[in-house]
Amino acid sequence: MKKKLLVTGFGGFVAGSVIAKAKDEWEVHAVGRREAPGKQGDVNYYKLDLLESDKLSELYHDINPDAVIHAAAMADIDFCEKNQDIAEKVNVGITRTLAGLCKEHGAKMVFCSTDSIFDGNKGMYTEEDEPNPINYYAETKVKAEEIVRATGNGVTARLSLVMGMPVMGSGNSFLAKTIKILQAGESIKFPSNETRTPVDVITLGRSLVELAGNDFMGIMHLSGNTKITRYEMAKQIAGKLGYSRDLIVAIDSNAIEGRAPRPNDASLDNSLAKKVLKTPMQSLLEGLELTMNYKV
Ligand SMILES: NC(=O)c1ccc[n+]([C@@H]2O[C@H](COP(=O)([O-])OP(=O)(O)OC[C@H]3O[C@@H](n4cnc5c(N)ncnc54)[C@H](OP(=O)(O)O)[C@@H]3O)[C@@H](O)[C@H]2O)c1
Repeated sequence: MKKKLLVTGFGGFVAGSVIAKAKDEWEVHAVGRREAPGKQGDVNYYKLDLLESDKLSELYHDINPDAVIHAAAMADIDFCEKNQDIAEKVNVGITRTLAGLCKEHGAKMVFCSTDSIFDGNKGMYTEEDEPNPINYYAETKVKAEEIVRATGNGVTARLSLVMGMPVMGSGNSFLAKTIKILQAGESIKFPSNETRTPVDVITLGRSLVELAGNDFMGIMHLSGNTKITRYEMAKQIAGKLGYSRDLIVAIDSNAIEGRAPRPNDASLDNSLAKKVLKTPMQSLLEGLELTMNYKV
């Protein structure tokens, strides 16, 4: 009999890739705010606002999962800065509810955190480096990490910038938006001050599902093998996909008024992931190839 996996935030960018990877090996139960199609193939979908903790608890007990991949979040950095109360409720409160349920029932929890928890002054951060959040989104993630750590039965996966086409659902894919703009022959701005180690969404889905099923506990950085600015990354992607690299325009994201501050160099060291996981980490262009050719 297949083990049961609960995935939060179906319809989201990362959750879509997780569900696509998990559905052959796990009995997948996916919960999100959008209209749920019910049972589709091997995946059971449920519509639920995760802030409704009583209903979440009821659903959890009905499913009784062996593992949970918690990908639902309020991930818009500027929205979180301006709406701190709701950001806290979603990013910290829901994680607290789920972590409590996992601890009570002995399920493994894999929580999606972010490279943004670092201040960006150093780069190539390892799992031993201390978080120092510089925006409210990152603050909520640090609080949530602490909750997961305290259960002693969870994984905090810190994701680098996620690059790729949506697999199932839609969500927050900068690549899909960029391609549309480039296809229209229009220019698009990318920050040249932000250095990242982008991870492709397919490798990420595989890694998160592997973490749900293996013995690893603690913090792991999930990032690609290429350290690059977002501006250079976009230029490379545009060139590789046959668009004019000149359509990519450099900006400084920390010089834009009214925006929450971003860490300059939040690149992540993925040595631990390479050591522990069977899933290979990819370079930017290998990841691009994977995501552009991926079929569910
Ligand atoms: N994408 C990146 O580059 C990146 C980088 C680092 C870390 N992360 C982290 O990775 C995780 C997944 O990110 P993503 O890019 O997949 O984000 P996303 O596309 O915005 O997906 C997040 C999902 O969470 C759902 N959600 C939010 N509040 C909810 C609630 N109260 N009840 C039920 N569902 C709710 C959203 O539902 P709606 O569709 O209804 O809004 C959305 O489908 C997040 O924890 C994010 O912080 C992402």
